[in-house]
Amino acid sequence: MLLVKLGGSVITVKSKYRTLRGPDLSRLARELAAGAGPDTVVVHGAGSYGHILAAKHRLGEGYDNPAQLGAVAQVQRDVRALDLKVLDALLRARLRPVAVPPSLVMRYHDGRLAVFDVGPFRDYLMRELLPVSFGDVVMDTKRRFAIASGDDVILELAKLFRPERVLFVADVDGVFTADPKRHKEAKLLEAIGPGALDSIAFATEATQDVTGGLRGKLLRMVEIAKHARDVRIINGLARGRLEAAVRGDDVPGTRVVG
Ligand code: IPE
Repeated sequence: MLLVKLGGSVITVKSKYRTLRGPDLSRLARELAAGAGPDTVVVHGAGSYGHILAAKHRLGEGYDNPAQLGAVAQVQRDVRALDLKVLDALLRARLRPVAVPPSLVMRYHDGRLAVFDVGPFRDYLMRELLPVSFGDVVMDTKRRFAIASGDDVILELAKLFRPERVLFVADVDGVFTADPKRHKEAKLLEAIGPGALDSIAFATEATQDVTGGLRGKLLRMVEIAKHARDVRIINGLARGRLEAAVRGDDVPGTRVVG
């Protein structure tokens, strides 16, 4: 099995509310279609369709005021709008995508995953359809609601399916020793594991990422790597990389070891 996470920063402009990177999304869908086999699941991030409003209303921390409920409804609607764009792009590339919204298959309790219904994923895969899931607002039996990131979905799928490969499609080549957008001397790391996280200079300023920022995401990837043979972060903005990686070629990027 192949799990592909299309990061919110590749398919959306993360700083502008509900702004799609349409041409990149279409190209990535075509690259995926060119290389992926039948045993594939796609998960995408929320990008600016999720993080901006979720951060503004602190949805990741659960309920503390009634105004948040309007934001829960709005964010859930927005991430579905983004998902429709992803489905459209995959359909245009002649794949057979079907949505599996986490709000319908996941439940949290006090900020932790309590229920994950893998049934729809299995059912669709058996019928040679391509399950597509995403970062979403889900219900929490104690905090009323919680945020499930696309990476949380990937982790559960990895535990259950033990995939051969997991590809995290990002807007940079991989993990660097410092932020490559601001530090010229930043070096690309060939591999990262649990220990290597200490050698990375993470940005400390407040970001709009409600799912833990880069450090949180890397910790989850290391966890995912315990359940998959080959886990890689690759650059989805570099033309042809996803297609090559999906085919199993060695492309520039960072390997994640569990
Ligand atoms: C975030 O999902 C979900 C919401 C904010 C609703 P992700 O954490 O997977 O999204 P990206 O990839 O960072 O955009």
